[in-house]
Amino acid sequence: MSYPYQISSYEEYQIAWKKSIEDPAAFWGEVASSFTWRKKWDNVLSWNFTEPNVKWFEGGKLNITENCLDRHLEKSGSMPAIIWEPNNPDEHHRILTYNQLHFKVNQFSHVLHNNGVRKGDRVCIYMGMIPELAIAVLACARVGAIHSVIFGGFSAQSIADRLQDAKAEFIVTCDGAFRGAKDIPLKNVIDDALIACPFVKRTIVLTRTRTPVSMIKGRDVWWEDEIHKVETLGNPAFPAVEMDAEDPLFILYTSGSTGKPKGVVHTCGGYMVYTNYTFVNVFQYKPEEVHFCTADIGWITGHSYIVYGPLSAGATSLLFEGIPTWPDAGRFWDIVDKFKVNILYTAPTAIRSLMAFGLGPLHGKQLDSLRVLGTVGEPINEEAWHWYDEHVGKRRCPIVDTWWQTETGGVMISNLAGITPAKPSFATLPLPGVDPVLVDENGHVVEGNNVSGNLCLRSPWPSVIRTTYGDHDRCKTNYFSAYPELYFTGDGAMRDENGFYRITGRVDDVLNVSGHRIGTAEVENAINMHAGVVESAVVGYPHDIKGQGIYAYVVYGHMHGDEELTRRDIAYTVSRIIGPIARPDKIQFVMGLPKTRSGKIMRRILRKIAEGETENLGDTSTLLEPQVVQEISNGRLIH
Ligand code: PRX
Repeated sequence: MSYPYQISSYEEYQIAWKKSIEDPAAFWGEVASSFTWRKKWDNVLSWNFTEPNVKWFEGGKLNITENCLDRHLEKSGSMPAIIWEPNNPDEHHRILTYNQLHFKVNQFSHVLHNNGVRKGDRVCIYMGMIPELAIAVLACARVGAIHSVIFGGFSAQSIADRLQDAKAEFIVTCDGAFRGAKDIPLKNVIDDALIACPFVKRTIVLTRTRTPVSMIKGRDVWWEDEIHKVETLGNPAFPAVEMDAEDPLFILYTSGSTGKPKGVVHTCGGYMVYTNYTFVNVFQYKPEEVHFCTADIGWITGHSYIVYGPLSAGATSLLFEGIPTWPDAGRFWDIVDKFKVNILYTAPTAIRSLMAFGLGPLHGKQLDSLRVLGTVGEPINEEAWHWYDEHVGKRRCPIVDTWWQTETGGVMISNLAGITPAKPSFATLPLPGVDPVLVDENGHVVEGNNVSGNLCLRSPWPSVIRTTYGDHDRCKTNYFSAYPELYFTGDGAMRDENGFYRITGRVDDVLNVSGHRIGTAEVENAINMHAGVVESAVVGYPHDIKGQGIYAYVVYGHMHGDEELTRRDIAYTVSRIIGPIARPDKIQFVMGLPKTRSGKIMRRILRKIAEGETENLGDTSTLLEPQVVQEISNGRLIH
């Protein structure tokens, strides 16, 4: 496959960027012409950021799976589409060619259809990182259903919340999932979630771990049995359902500053064009290369750069079931050598955790197939950047530091590998279609270079969030109301003397723990559910590996017994309510929280104490009970 829109020089980048901002419709109309459409669009773009109401390729008809699968079959049917490396290195890997993946997606599309799934229905997918997860995702897209993938680390309660919000009547899951030395009983977690979701009509369960499961008559069916039924009919092809460019493709839940996760909605046409465009340009993908994105498909990175971006580009995408440190901390490097990986895309937290093992696990690894390295999910510190550059890329692989979000669908600010300059800890320049602006606390746009501010985006790119599922107002309030006519990212950034952007982190009440977004309000709600807790406040603190750790201040009613046990109980409660990723790292019991006279918790002070600051806590004169600050500071937990 060739990519007529692949940028090949800095100068070409500058021309493309300028054109995309001056005339987005002409620019993206040209890019979109390279895709397979059943019917061409009537209008490339109409938009306003006030409602917001954004439409790309309106009137266009397509099915994204025809772009990810069917269109590659003639020329590259025998090319590997997915290489799968299992958790256990002794188990055999699997390779699915485009022909095979197409076949399996067609089969499973029939399964979905036979089980009642129709266009527009919501299907929740809760599986480990196995090829069938990608197959389930693509089959939903083929039948026109809206998938909502839930990361395997979320608890039953979190799943129930998401199922209820999306009103999802169908579930695809596994008996269990392997992750490192652990075996996660996914179906059991689903069963717990379904107690609160009687509207779920069908659960399709794939066998992976052979963990005992309870299959409920009339509701639960085995994946394998359903496939068998399609086989007995001779495996007919499943004609892809025609979708409007603006029909929803998926919902993905993400945390914000309020207590409830939001269902970010992406649509078929714009998301396809933008993830493909950014995949091809940021990584400078060359046909036949092996692309290894280490994210989980339960997060946006996996959606965009394991599934849709690479497959729509006819690329080979490597999917890994396990974790970087099992059975040892050389696992990534073994995989790179085994499959001659060319592009490795991972998270700073993974790099830092591998750094902590020293250079031993890198001994004897060739890593000579690598051409491009990438990072995503959080700011990368310079030390980790240099380690990655020196010991993994051997100083010959450009590193792309890609800044983006669930809501943006694809990479927004990043260097283009080997084409535009890199700068350690800087995401650098905006992609074509992206017009970043910095805004000060008064809402004024900050012009010029060597400046900082809140990062906003001025005009729409094809994969901008369209709505938050079932609650458009929420989308408006969260992203389009802080500053008129701008999309607000929730991040702070600085722009250096060359116009390069450095993302400094969230400016709202959202934490970034090991590259996972977690709302402080969500964690507080979970802590407050624990019997005995009166109230709590959660803030982030710098953590060597995770980037940010979770520090909880808890006012506890009446402590009988051991404080340490109570801490563990509270942490366990959070695991049960949200999932282990949200477990607080530190819990400090306090007599009271610093509040203003109007009852607002002064998080600024709590953040400083958690960061280790005991002096210079700022103005405390407006506090209701200034003495609590001293008490909290005296009892600070040392990390
Ligand atoms: O704070 C930014 C951080 O991750 C947030 C988005 O999280 P999520 O929607 O889960 O998506 C993560 C994967 C795209 C952003 O608001 N972030 C993401 N990439 C970077 C980053 N911070 C700094 N540098 C990055 N490259």
